[in-house]
Amino acid sequence: MEDRVTPPEIYFNRRQWFNRRQWLRGGIVAGSALATGAIYRGLKGRPLPVAKTKQIEVVSAETLPPESGFVVDDTPTSYRAITSYNNFYEFTTDKVDVARVAEGFVTTGWQVEVNGLVDAPKTFTMADLAALGPAEERIYRMRCVEAWSMVIPWAGIPLARLLEAVRPQAAATHVAFETLYDPERMPGQKTSVLEWPYIEGLRLDEAMHPLTLLATGLYGRELPPQDGAPVRLVVPWKYGFKGIKSIVRISLVSSQPQTSWNRYAPGEYGYYANVNPAVDHPRWSQATEQRIGEVGRRATLPFNGYAEQVASLYDGMDLAVHF
Ligand code: MTE
Repeated sequence: MEDRVTPPEIYFNRRQWFNRRQWLRGGIVAGSALATGAIYRGLKGRPLPVAKTKQIEVVSAETLPPESGFVVDDTPTSYRAITSYNNFYEFTTDKVDVARVAEGFVTTGWQVEVNGLVDAPKTFTMADLAALGPAEERIYRMRCVEAWSMVIPWAGIPLARLLEAVRPQAAATHVAFETLYDPERMPGQKTSVLEWPYIEGLRLDEAMHPLTLLATGLYGRELPPQDGAPVRLVVPWKYGFKGIKSIVRISLVSSQPQTSWNRYAPGEYGYYANVNPAVDHPRWSQATEQRIGEVGRRATLPFNGYAEQVASLYDGMDLAVHF
């Protein structure tokens, strides 16, 4: 994906240049808000939309013990940055333009069909999803395979709660996910940049892990289109591309499903895609990352810092082979 988008180095160099110029002109003290905010206002010479979606009720994760991994200590990335620097190829491959192109994406009447090897298949409306339990806050690190990262205060329900509701059968070993296919509403689907619809997959035990979230919001608001409205997957120990957006179908299956990026370039994007600083992408190192809003790079952590919670899922597996 790297070759079709602004590489992070160029993007961040531009950002730093822009900030320096702003600072010289206005004498503004460069705080973190400016550091992440300036580029989003001016990169393409026109104002970028800042989606302010409806506020939602979220159960705070603050009381949870740190070993749950539900809340990381790192400073959350600004709302503006999270909603203005996106990968969502159904709209455009230009990260900075996704918010504008996706603005107005209508999700009224959205349904998520859950089918396959389950005893109680069901098509869920958003109200049905909400009835499964209150949205819970999770402040997770997000590490893109392109070596940039964010910290995002998500809101959602554990995916396990949805899966338990449909009662998986003993033969179910994996979960397959599918994004909406509608080229009229998602203009990027008129191009062949990827095969559509976008698809993803997890092993059933990964899908049932308490960290795996079906997110419907961020920063206490409904997800804006560019972040995967109205419902997306979040698997914080895996590269960001596993976090499939705007989901319409979830199927319980008995073999490893195909996934979009793995199908596109299997040597570059693994099926497991666990964040692993020791396994480089063929075209760049995965040892460090650029946290959006920070100057300088930081070390990438095994399993994105969630090894304590998830490493045991992969006991006995060679993670250089199953990358
Ligand atoms: N889901 C769909 N349907 N289409 C996409 O292009 N991009 C993926 C993932 N989910 C993508 C997707 C990639 S590469 C990343 S890094 C994350 O979404 C980015 O999520 P964000 O834009 O909310 O940060």
